[in-house]
Amino acid sequence: MSTSLEGRKAVVTGAAQGIGKAIAKALAEAGAKVVISDINGEGAKAAAADIGHGAVGVTCDSTKVDQVNKMLEDAAENGAIDILVNNASIVPYIAWDDVDMEHWQKIIDTNLTSVFIASRKATDMMRAADRKGTVLNIASNAFYAGTPNMSAYVAAKGGVVGFTRALATEVGKYGIRVNAVTPGLIDSDGVKGSPHAESFGFVEMLQAMPGKGQPEDIAKVVAFLVSDDAGWMTGQCVNVDAGMIRL
Ligand SMILES: NC(=O)c1ccc[n+]([C@@H]2O[C@H](COP(=O)([O-])OP(=O)(O)OC[C@H]3O[C@@H](n4cnc5c(N)ncnc54)[C@H](O)[C@@H]3O)[C@@H](O)[C@H]2O)c1
Repeated sequence: MSTSLEGRKAVVTGAAQGIGKAIAKALAEAGAKVVISDINGEGAKAAAADIGHGAVGVTCDSTKVDQVNKMLEDAAENGAIDILVNNASIVPYIAWDDVDMEHWQKIIDTNLTSVFIASRKATDMMRAADRKGTVLNIASNAFYAGTPNMSAYVAAKGGVVGFTRALATEVGKYGIRVNAVTPGLIDSDGVKGSPHAESFGFVEMLQAMPGKGQPEDIAKVVAFLVSDDAGWMTGQCVNVDAGMIRL
């Protein structure tokens, strides 16, 4: 077993709160040097202080190429990062009748194009440094379920699943692994303050196991997937939702 991430450099986007923060904490506790990147810079710094283990919080809008490239270069410290977790996302709740071009574009930019932007730079840097790194994308089981009131989100997450498979194919020859996790409904900071929180009872009925998913339930699986223990896994989407979707 080699679940230790000692000596690895990791970036987790959108990690000021919620699932991203739990992932950053799990990776830091496993020994990785973690950069917490978030459009909410104050939140990122507070999360880093809370997590400790040398974690650093930085302000970065994942939809902006220049900001992402600089953030990744700073995190690499003249080399390359070993682990990129693309987690930053907006989790909207919007009726189909209200979905307009502006909403669609914002969700596609934030939840799908951001994954391309960071993956482009990170895998280029890994290749240049001859680093067998890994990219882990946070998608959603909403892609499988076609969850209501989230049409642009579901489309974006489907794109993330497809991109995960395609990028794994492109960079596998360099020893770079690319996987995704599809969480079910999770009691994150974002969900707690949204109409999604009212769905827990219904979702629990669909789950094979009872209970309310927690950010740590996702973080533990991510920590495994970015470790050498998952060294023979790439191009996979691991569903983590107490068996709501049985693939
Ligand atoms: N919570 C759930 O039920 C659930 C279910 C399935 C998938 N997911 C996915 O898990 C991930 C985390 O979700 P969460 O519930 O913890 O969300 P959250 O709303 O609690 O946190 C999202 C974080 O992303 C940051 N962010 C938003 N836009 C950004 C941008 N442009 N650049 C950088 N940071 C940005 C926010 O500031 C925030 O800190 C997302 O990818 C989400 O789609 C969540």
